Amino acid sequence: MILHQCIYSSLKIHTMSNPSESPETKQNRILSQEDWKQKWETRNIGFHENNIHPFLAEFLNEMLGGRTKLNIFFPLCGKAVDMKWLADMGHSIVGVDVSELGLKEFFSEHNIPYTEEAVAGIPGATVYKSSSGNISLYCCSIYDISPSVIGKFDGIWDRGAMVAVNPGDRERYANVILSIMAKDCHYLLVTVEYDPKLHAGPPFFVPDSELENLLGASCSMKLLKKIDGLTDKQKQWGLDLYFEKIHLITQQLQS
Ligand SMILES: C[S@@+](CC[C@H](N)C(=O)[O-])C[C@H]1O[C@@H](n2cnc3c(N)ncnc32)[C@H](O)[C@@H]1O
Repeated sequence: MILHQCIYSSLKIHTMSNPSESPETKQNRILSQEDWKQKWETRNIGFHENNIHPFLAEFLNEMLGGRTKLNIFFPLCGKAVDMKWLADMGHSIVGVDVSELGLKEFFSEHNIPYTEEAVAGIPGATVYKSSSGNISLYCCSIYDISPSVIGKFDGIWDRGAMVAVNPGDRERYANVILSIMAKDCHYLLVTVEYDPKLHAGPPFFVPDSELENLLGASCSMKLLKKIDGLTDKQKQWGLDLYFEKIHLITQQLQS
């Protein structure tokens, strides 16, 4: 596999059009929080992977940068096994998801004892904390999250998160992420690329140009790798081209 280390302006191959510029785009599907909770209840969770994400394993050090005992954030975390993997390395994990079921399954499937408590500052929210104290999973909307509640983070793993957010909410989502990035935060973001005229999402196609609009004013972005991710699942969606990309996003140094 080829490692693409380049900036977006030099990336010319397989770059799709911006869905907001396309009159025929199908990317106008809107999922409510209730829709997502129902997906969990009806076991419609094909997004969940039982193995460590290959991009995370390959680019872990891009997030860690040789640092230990980091605070790492998982937006829209589901029950990602990657949280346990990083916690076992000594990092502190904070996740956020609207599905109580998904969060409780995370703890039970890994035999991790936990406690639950209300979250001061977010009415109706609950936080589930591992008894050892290194994993805290908040059950609430990502849009209710702020640094005053969960703090700031040295690393972020964003897989199935930015691409799952309704396109109309992307700016709000990006602003939450920007607000919880510590100065030296290394944010790993996985996006997908396909013809937005052929599939309604999620996952939604998030063009690089939109990442620039959302994050580029304060962050530097580097494409770490782009792979052909087409499997039978995407073929069933009607796609014949499907790429997965991982980006490293860091705050620009202020002079
Ligand atoms: C595509 S899944 C990805 C889960 C996880 N990141 C993974 O890779 O397995 C998206 C997750 O986002 C959660 N979700 C959707 N909207 C949300 C919101 N507004 N706030 C918090 N979680 C949300 C869903 O419950 C679901 O678990």
